[in-house]
Amino acid sequence: MNDTPLIIAMPKGRIFHEAAELLRKAGYQLPPEFDESRKLIVDVSEENLQFILAKPMDVPTYVEHGVADLGIAGKDVMLEEERDVYELLDLKISPCYLAVAGLPDTKMNEVAPKIATKYPNVASSYFREQGEQVEIIKLNGSIELAPIVGLADRIVDIVSTGRTLKENGLVEYEHIVDVTSRLIVNPVSYRIKDAAIEQIVDRLNRVISEKVV
Ligand code: PRP
Repeated sequence: MNDTPLIIAMPKGRIFHEAAELLRKAGYQLPPEFDESRKLIVDVSEENLQFILAKPMDVPTYVEHGVADLGIAGKDVMLEEERDVYELLDLKISPCYLAVAGLPDTKMNEVAPKIATKYPNVASSYFREQGEQVEIIKLNGSIELAPIVGLADRIVDIVSTGRTLKENGLVEYEHIVDVTSRLIVNPVSYRIKDAAIEQIVDRLNRVISEKVV
């Protein structure tokens, strides 16, 4: 029996609420203010859990370095970051996909077309696999702006409802990969805190399989 709390890195933003709901359905008593708080560290001592709230792209970094035992991260982030962590579960929440998009009826520049993205690694490997040489322009958000103002020929970005593309007059050209959120673990924590981790995996798994049926 290990008394130190399991530390879980949670992604702030759109995945957060779905992840919190999943944990509640799995029977974890999270306080109501959990979802609204601006605190970055939240102790839920009744459950022997501690949550750290990070930017989604940073969750695997906290887990890789072992300051969090577990984390919840989108597959998009996992592909981009390639951190030394294990993926334990597909939580099947926050489904979306990565796509290539741009202005309608436009061809990419033949020489070094510019691709704007928050995912430079994913975008480079994708275009390399397609045999296309591209110039990657790294942005941190509002990626859809880039082709409209002439910063890039195409973007590589997340599409969820498709509303952002539509409202900005952009169209999808290629579907790269489907994305859902994953439960990830630090390899050392997985060995040392195996019982506690197996328990949380079992409880979450039960909820996920119920949802599928
Ligand atoms: C994400 C993504 C798209 C949008 C897609 O951005 O980068 O812009 O959501 O969602 P939709 O298909 O439902 O419209 P986010 O809101 O995370 O903000 P960002 O612009 O800072 O990346």
